[in-house]
Amino acid sequence: MNICCIGAGYVGGPTMAMIALKCPEHRVTVVDINEKRIAAWNSNELPVYEPGLDEVVSEARGRNLFFSTDVNGSIAEADMIFISVNTPTKSYGVGAGRAADLKFIERCARQIAEVAKGNIIVVEKSTLPVRTAESIRRILEGCGGEFTFQVLSNPEFLAEGTAVPDLLNPDRVLIGGEQTPEGDEAAKTLADVYAKWVPRERILTTNVWSSELSKLTANAFLAQRVSSINAISALCEATEANVDEVARAIGTDSRIGPKFLKSSVGFGGSCFQKDILNLVYLCEHFGLPEVAAYWEQVIIMNDYQKSRFVRRLVRTLFNTVSGKKIAILGFAFKKDTNDTRESPAIYVCRDLLEEQAEVHIFDPKVKASQVFADLQQDALNGNGEPNPNIIIEEDVYAACENAHAVAILTEWDRFRDLDWQRIYDNMLKPAFVFDGRNILDAPALRKMGFEVYGIGR
Ligand code: UDX
Ligand code: ADP
Repeated sequence: MNICCIGAGYVGGPTMAMIALKCPEHRVTVVDINEKRIAAWNSNELPVYEPGLDEVVSEARGRNLFFSTDVNGSIAEADMIFISVNTPTKSYGVGAGRAADLKFIERCARQIAEVAKGNIIVVEKSTLPVRTAESIRRILEGCGGEFTFQVLSNPEFLAEGTAVPDLLNPDRVLIGGEQTPEGDEAAKTLADVYAKWVPRERILTTNVWSSELSKLTANAFLAQRVSSINAISALCEATEANVDEVARAIGTDSRIGPKFLKSSVGFGGSCFQKDILNLVYLCEHFGLPEVAAYWEQVIIMNDYQKSRFVRRLVRTLFNTVSGKKIAILGFAFKKDTNDTRESPAIYVCRDLLEEQAEVHIFDPKVKASQVFADLQQDALNGNGEPNPNIIIEEDVYAACENAHAVAILTEWDRFRDLDWQRIYDNMLKPAFVFDGRNILDAPALRKMGFEVYGIGR
C-alpha cells in the first residue's frame, strides 16, 4: 500500500516511523505544509525529541519512509491517508476556549476530496470530538471526486517521552469503523498493518463514535487522577501528611493501582487540557450541564495547583520576589520531550515575571526561541525588546549561581544527580528549593542546609 500521513508532528512523525519500520512492504510518506519541520525530519536533528526515535527513523527513512511537503502529490498516490494535524482549542467565536478548532481537519478533508483517486481509507489519528468522522464523510461525499472511501477512527494513545516503547508495545490499538461490510473491510485492512507487530487480541474494533469518545475519555480519566492527587496535596501541606506516602498507600490497593498518582505542579501537554475542555463543550452542547461541570473541575484543580505553587514560593521568600533571581530547572511539560505545550512552567514563569522576579531558565532539550515564544507576552515589552527578566541558561550551575531559590518544574532525571552541594555553596542564603515534581531527596538536601519545599509534603 501507499500510506500517506498529513501532519508531521509529535503524533504523525513517530507513529508513521514505527509503521514504516515494521511494515517494509508499505511505502509511508509523511507530509506537512511546514517546510522547516519536513527539512528537520530529513536531517540529523529531528524536530521531535523522543528517546529511541533517531534509530527508528534512520533505519526506515529513504527505504520506505519519506518526509515531504508535496501534500497533494502524496494524497493522489495514497491508498490509506492518516489525518494527524493539530486540533487546538478554539480561540474565537462560538465555543471559544472550549471547543476544538477543526479548521485544519476540514482543510485536510477538502484537500483529500480534491485530489484523491481510487478506493481510499481515511484514518483519523488526531484526537477529535465525537462525530467528526461524520463531517469528514460529508465533505468527501459532497465533493463528488473520482474515488470511493471509508472513514476510520484510530486514536493514538502514545505518551510523549515514551513514544517509541508505547508504539512498540501498546496496551491496545483502537479502530473505529462504520458497521457495514465495507467498513469492516477497511478496519481489517488497517488492523492488518498493526498486526505486523501488535498481538491480534490487543487490536480492538468498535463503532466510529465509541472510538472517538474513548480517546477523550481515556485522557479525562488520566488527568482526573492527577488532579485528584493534587487536590489531596494541598490538604497534605495543611496537615503535615505526606502526599507521596498517601499515594503509595492508596496505590497498593489493586482497584486503584500505583500509576498516575505522582503529585506535581500540575499536568501539561497538548492533550489533557484540550481534550477535557472539548469533553466539557460536548456535554454542554448535548444539554448535560452537570456532567460538564464535573469534568471542568479537573481543569480548575489543575489551574489552582499551578498558581498555588507560585503563591507558596513568593510567601516563603518573605512575600516578595521582586528583583530576585529564581532558577527554573526544566521547561518541558514532562521529561524526555522537547514539547512545551501547556507546560506548567509557562504559567509559573509568567506569574513570577508578573511579580518582577528575574527567571533564569535551564532545560536540556527546549530551545531558547521556544521559551521566548511561550512567554511572548512577557518576553516583549513596549519596544518589542525581549524582557530582560527572562534569561535562558546553557549551564545548569550558572542558572543557580547567586539565586534566591531553585524551582524544579520538569522531572528530568539529570536534576536528581546534580552536584547539589556545589549549588548550595553558590546560592544566596537561606537557599530555597521548590521541587514541583517531588524528585529530589529532600532529607539529604536539608542536611546540606537547603530549605526544601515539595508538593504536598
Ligand atoms: C497523554 C496520554 O497519556 C496519552 O495516552 C495520550 O495519547 C496523550 O495524552 P502526554 O500528554 O504525552 O500523554 O503525557 P502524560 O504522560 O500523560 O502526562 C501528562 C501530564 O501529566 C504531564 O505534564 C505529566 O507530568 C503529568 N503527570 C502525569 C503528573 O503530574 N503526575 C502523574 O502521575 C502523571
Ligand atoms: P500533534 O502533537 O497532534 O502531532 P503537532 O502540532 O505537533 O500536533 O503536528 C501537527 C502538524 O500538522 C503540524 O506540523 C502542522 O504544520 C501540520 N498541518 C496542519 N494542517 C495541515 C495541512 N492542511 N496539511 C499539511 N499539514 C498540516
